[in-house]
Amino acid sequence: MTVDDFVSNRSDNRPFEDVLRARLSRRTVMAGSLAAAATTFFAQGTAGAAVASRANGKGMAKGQADLIGFEPVTLANGGGVNPSISPDYQYQVLIPWGTPIVAPYPEHVNGSKTAADQEKQIGIGHDGMWFFPLSRNSDRGVICLNHEFGRNTHVYGKAGPESLEDVRLSQAAHGVSVVEVAESGGSWDVVRGGYNRRITPNTPVEFAGPVAGHPALGDTSRPSFGTLNNCSSGYTPWGTYVTCEENFNGYFGSTLGEDFVPDAAQERYGFTDTGFGYGWENYDGRWDLSNPDYDGEYNRFGWNVEIDPMNPDAAPIKRTAMGRFKHEGVAFTVGRGGRVVAYMGDDQRFDYIYKFVSDSNYKSMLARGMSPLDHGKLYVARFDEDGTGQWLELTIDDPALAAAFADQGEVLINARVAADILGATPMDRPEWTTVAPDGQVYCTLTNNSRRTEADAANPLAPNADGHIIRWTDTDQFTGTSFEWDIYIIAETTHGTEQSFADPDGLWADPDGRIWIQTDGGQKDGLNNQMLVSDPATGQISRLLTGVPGDEITGLTVTPDRRTLFANTQHPGNGDPTLTNFPVENEVPDGVTIPRDCTFVITRKDGGIVGT
Ligand code: FEO
Ligand code: CA
Ligand code: CA
Ligand code: CA
Repeated sequence: MTVDDFVSNRSDNRPFEDVLRARLSRRTVMAGSLAAAATTFFAQGTAGAAVASRANGKGMAKGQADLIGFEPVTLANGGGVNPSISPDYQYQVLIPWGTPIVAPYPEHVNGSKTAADQEKQIGIGHDGMWFFPLSRNSDRGVICLNHEFGRNTHVYGKAGPESLEDVRLSQAAHGVSVVEVAESGGSWDVVRGGYNRRITPNTPVEFAGPVAGHPALGDTSRPSFGTLNNCSSGYTPWGTYVTCEENFNGYFGSTLGEDFVPDAAQERYGFTDTGFGYGWENYDGRWDLSNPDYDGEYNRFGWNVEIDPMNPDAAPIKRTAMGRFKHEGVAFTVGRGGRVVAYMGDDQRFDYIYKFVSDSNYKSMLARGMSPLDHGKLYVARFDEDGTGQWLELTIDDPALAAAFADQGEVLINARVAADILGATPMDRPEWTTVAPDGQVYCTLTNNSRRTEADAANPLAPNADGHIIRWTDTDQFTGTSFEWDIYIIAETTHGTEQSFADPDGLWADPDGRIWIQTDGGQKDGLNNQMLVSDPATGQISRLLTGVPGDEITGLTVTPDRRTLFANTQHPGNGDPTLTNFPVENEVPDGVTIPRDCTFVITRKDGGIVGT
């Protein structure tokens, strides 16, 4: 989204000047431009991956060459007014913005017009999602779906709010939808059942972990409400959904206007007097950084939030041990001793990649009534030039952090600042993470137009189109060191049929395919897109392209992997002269508002998606 045009990390963590050249001089004999060097770097990386994959054979389908067999969307077909999908696949549109899911099921009329209606309908800004099957079925389940953001002009047709009702409508379009869906006769639809609910910035929530009750949250007798800017998400081994609060700073402003001066901690998280221009602070004092009745409110956002999709009465819980930053997404796995491990990106230019490891076996913690997400260690990544790296623990027991913070709660609330102090590696906007079946962890680094000095892990300066980094942890994901390399540099694909830029959504499927979704200006005439890649062969095939002005984001499959759900977010950027999607006109009618929605994608032959 355009609000990413911002740098708040002014720390001096630039330990890798010239390290790309140092590393490449050892790894290649090729002189010349960074782009040429990067191509060689990529080629070596994939060759290494191929050797590693074949060596352990784990999780790989038989016949490596058959891992991706579909006919891709071509460059020529990937830039139209309507989506394009591989000729071997088909899609159906599900749950567009405004779909009624809660009684009395108010219908959407070209834009939801009241907050009360919008609170009972699917929100806008479809993003991270997960399908939780009911009764182990692949034809019925509960989808949790994030609603990242919706511009005022798109949601209610005004540049800014003129009343509290306008603010409430904007708020109701944000948050999360929990919605039951089922397939019948080859078509999916909403089930108007008891699991369905909307979670918005006004839903009661709970705090857990070291920051619960911390004075930095303000008056602790003041209840907490809501989640917002829910970007990507993860799902736990115990069947819950974790939604990630990303650009939370943008919803706060100050009624003092230019007289508002953010403190250093606010500045590190990007708070300003105007935010992103939502204007909520003008009618709802909770979002006014200068309102003493809501002191510390801004510290109540920027967390991972756990939601139980199967218990509609359970409040969402902010899991503070996982740190406060612009949480893009979270990928969970189970590490040594049954500890749960979570990988997380902080999406800002020059911000960091984090890891959380629970203190002990997650099953025994749950059996003792403890959440594994409340008790554990939080680390931030340092990528060293020799291809190794270190996980640096964000703990008050570290003397450097003890000198800066009073307690662990302060460390977690100011995780970015703590990571600055420890010397973490500033990255090119960390987005999604995913754990592949061979144990490698991948992270998209979407781009960084402000980078002026390349380093080993971020080898392009500026980095216009992004790259994907990956690492292998020691000690079954729980260790403090790792080895890393670069999976792919997007720029190296330009001018070819594999062209993509600005990688964002990411998923490693159980056969080892790496799915890539994009958010940004694509090259070679393409709309944003979803591609499937094979680390063992370097193959990249385009499965889907979206519509003008959108991004493709969010990815989940049914247990049989024969149905995939993915989203178009902000189609046409809300402009009906660019596209009316999901209404598929050959020429946009200029009236019908395009709506965020979900693609239900299947292979025409009923096969596993990605094949
Ligand atoms: Fe919400 Fe960084 O995309
Ligand atoms: Ca987005
Ligand atoms: Ca994203
Ligand atoms: Ca993005």
